Amino acid sequence: MRVSVVGAGYVGTSSAAVLAACGHDVTCVEQNDTRLQRWRRGDDPLGEPGLAELLVRSKVNFVPDPRSIALADVVIVAVGTPPDDRGRPDITQVDAAAVEIAEYARDDTLVLVRSTVPVGTCDRLQNGPLRRLRVVSNPEFLREGRALHDAFFPDRIVAGGPPEAQGVFEELYRRIIEGRDLPGGARGERVPVLWMSARSAELAKYAANGFLATKLSFVNEIANLAFTVGADASSVLGSMAFDPRIGPQYLHPGLGWGGSCFPKDTRALEAIADGAGYDFVVLRAAIEQNTRQLTRFAAAIELAVPSRGRVGMLGLAFKAGTADVRASPAIALARRLSSRGLTVTAFDPAVSAIADEPDVQVRPTVVDACDGADAVAIATEWPEFATIDLRALRRVTRGDLLFDGRCLISPSSAVAAGFRYRSLVGFGD
Ligand SMILES: NC(=O)c1ccc[n+]([C@@H]2O[C@H](COP(=O)([O-])OP(=O)(O)OC[C@H]3O[C@@H](n4cnc5c(N)ncnc54)[C@H](O)[C@@H]3O)[C@@H](O)[C@H]2O)c1
Repeated sequence: MRVSVVGAGYVGTSSAAVLAACGHDVTCVEQNDTRLQRWRRGDDPLGEPGLAELLVRSKVNFVPDPRSIALADVVIVAVGTPPDDRGRPDITQVDAAAVEIAEYARDDTLVLVRSTVPVGTCDRLQNGPLRRLRVVSNPEFLREGRALHDAFFPDRIVAGGPPEAQGVFEELYRRIIEGRDLPGGARGERVPVLWMSARSAELAKYAANGFLATKLSFVNEIANLAFTVGADASSVLGSMAFDPRIGPQYLHPGLGWGGSCFPKDTRALEAIADGAGYDFVVLRAAIEQNTRQLTRFAAAIELAVPSRGRVGMLGLAFKAGTADVRASPAIALARRLSSRGLTVTAFDPAVSAIADEPDVQVRPTVVDACDGADAVAIATEWPEFATIDLRALRRVTRGDLLFDGRCLISPSSAVAAGFRYRSLVGFGD
């Protein structure tokens, strides 16, 4: 099939790469010229492992012009839906993409909305600008840093729209659904296709992210409480992992969740509930807890570090395995510390510069970031930080405080290296 993808971000390019690798003829339309030129050169602007190579190998085209949509059997909408000033999803990019699609697409073209959009958006497009076409909500569940893996081997494919669209939809994803004939001879399990109404599919995406964020906030509450009552958080959380109803994932405490999805999707879910007159009390509490978690960690640093001191921060990305700093707790921490008069110098293995961020100076190595610092703060759970040579680190820092916002380091090894260790769940001295 001929597929046109509007928006060459994480979702657009991973969908494009996987569908092209499955034999479809794929073109990506991208309006940001810097991004477009980098993809054209085979140079990944997102830092997503394996993605640029697969896009080149599977011959995905990148174009600035939406006219190529006229050739497509399927158009995928993968544009951004960032939060607006009030934290609600801004769907201007989706509406603008719909206008372009309406202008160029042939009758009956299948339009898959992979962007995360408020409930009712697909119905509105179907009954408005895209009435000639068939609109299906097809939310994406990939994790940044594992985008290709998740696109080839999804746990489930969620889709909502007119039943007559299901045949073409399943033909598009046939190899992925069957888990066979995948590139390189890879095989996967058969993937369930969960066909529902567009509204249900839209809400299913927010429900998944809302639940995961709530799980993390609950885990952080348990970790804080364990510390307060003299219990060991890792023993408590470790015991929960054995319950299959809870599962072992998302049980690690930290300084809070962030990224381009959880903060905006939880706010959007709250707005959906508000708009329907429903008081989603658990979700509100999860969001509030997340703000407090960061404040709690920042306050501990501010209390201990001398005024006008410097903090060497390890990590800037919102999580390990990605270069994405959107709504990163590390950046929020840097801003907060800077607002209290502290200087922040930071290193991240995937981030070499951040545009328009005066509150943090990015340095090229761990040593450069921590040299002469009064304290070190671990803000992203990069595995390399867990195995850092702490003695060598202590030789370059001025102060002896190590704040572990991701509970990565063993307190005893930090103390043995000469640090006073502080984490959200315990002290090392
Ligand atoms: N990033 C993730 O991990 C993830 C996971 C699941 C769902 N989502 C959702 O998917 C959507 C896209 O997310 P993303 O992270 O890939 O976004 P992104 O901001 O990285 O990419 C979107 C791209 O669309 C381009 N664009 C916008 N309007 C355009 C137009 N009319 N024509 C051509 N290009 C256009 C932008 O320039 C940008 O490059 C969002 O709704 C997001 O919530 C993201």
